[in-house]
Amino acid sequence: MKILVLGAGGREHAIIRRLAADQPVPQLHAAPGNPGIAELATCHPVALSDIDAQVALARDLQIDLVVIGPEAPLVAGAADQLREAGIAVFGPSAAAARLEGSKSFAKDVMRAAGVPTAAAVTITDPTALEAGLERVNPLGDVPFVVKADGLAAGKGVVVTADREAALTHAHSVLAAGGSVVLEEYLDGPEVSLFCVSDGERVVPLAPAQDFKRAFDGDEGPNTGGMGAYSPLPWAPEGLVEEVVRTVAQPTITEMARRGTPFVGLLFCGLALTSHGVRVIEFNARFGDPETQVVLERLDSPLAPLLLAAAQGDLLAVPEPAWSAQAAVAVIIASEGYPATSRTGDEITGIADCEGLGCHVLHAGTARDEQGRLVSAGGRVLAVLARGEDLAQARERARAGAEAIMLPGSHHRRDIAARAAAGEVVP
Ligand code: AMP
Ligand code: GLY
Repeated sequence: MKILVLGAGGREHAIIRRLAADQPVPQLHAAPGNPGIAELATCHPVALSDIDAQVALARDLQIDLVVIGPEAPLVAGAADQLREAGIAVFGPSAAAARLEGSKSFAKDVMRAAGVPTAAAVTITDPTALEAGLERVNPLGDVPFVVKADGLAAGKGVVVTADREAALTHAHSVLAAGGSVVLEEYLDGPEVSLFCVSDGERVVPLAPAQDFKRAFDGDEGPNTGGMGAYSPLPWAPEGLVEEVVRTVAQPTITEMARRGTPFVGLLFCGLALTSHGVRVIEFNARFGDPETQVVLERLDSPLAPLLLAAAQGDLLAVPEPAWSAQAAVAVIIASEGYPATSRTGDEITGIADCEGLGCHVLHAGTARDEQGRLVSAGGRVLAVLARGEDLAQARERARAGAEAIMLPGSHHRRDIAARAAAGEVVP
């Protein structure tokens, strides 16, 4: 089987690495890929924004399955154009990817499907902001949750007890021409559950937890994700089945009922609140860095699962099998991330890190003219480790992260710490 993975990040490196472990090994291509992916797949210099060139590439290579990694090409209609060209695609149509591309659309689908989520109002007019906050945060309730309605790479959300900061963020989103979603605050630990769908059925993967804030102790701004772990030893029994029954399946059924079936990965971002499971957000693709830990624990082949979903027949494949081991990923971010990111600094220490039993997955990396590996983005690498339990995986990943040398970089030292210590309580 010939597979083309679109994307250039750590998630795509993780997908390719897992596909490369399938038997028989698929022939692997990536566009545009990155230096880590290039060790496992043939990389093609096609921009993520150039859908026509992606279709031409898939045709030229006679690709059997295209896996679309990031949200931007999905929202722009890459899956639609590839399907029109007769190519099997793992990734939703533009119409179905609106579940991620528009938070107000997602709320509308959840309302129609009876899926539990935070109460919210959508604001398009700055003069309605104050009244909106009064509705969502009555009696001075805090924190405030203020979200840009469209795609924002995980950085469009401000959660703050400071009313002025909430209003400032809302005004800046509106001034940029977007709309704002004001949301009820959800307490309780977060869970990321990936659900593979063929448009009708749902196959859940193993749950993971992401660390959204930039710094230790959940301090600092929201990011795309600074680390992740799986499994969740603290998760209530039956959580996955409950989320499939109350969240994923009703959403997939509602999308099919609307004539816009969702084929691909429905990423359910959840809060386990004192009132039960609530959806924080949907994404229309694998999460980054959760994919790195989830696929590390997948013991059954990945290509047949994704192909069966793309072909509309998940009944054709057995349920995924999972390792009992734990996996932890720690992101090495460049100086200034998430506000800015310094690029072009040399990265060293990868061999030392891997010598400690870790794997390094590339995200924002490039080769410079001398062939040296340099930073090329905000999230630069994921250091991934396995262990018999979370404590062991965490210790390995922590030590591995210390071995990576990148001037000015930062990473969190508390990924999975509270879970390993038994301190996470749903
Ligand atoms: P989103 O882009 O909607 O996933 O939001 C990014 C992050 O902001 C989430 O992972 C949460 O940590 C936080 N967040 C978003 N919405 C809420 C909410 N309603 N209550 C509490 N935290 C939230
Ligand atoms: N780590 C969260 C995301 O991929 O959106």
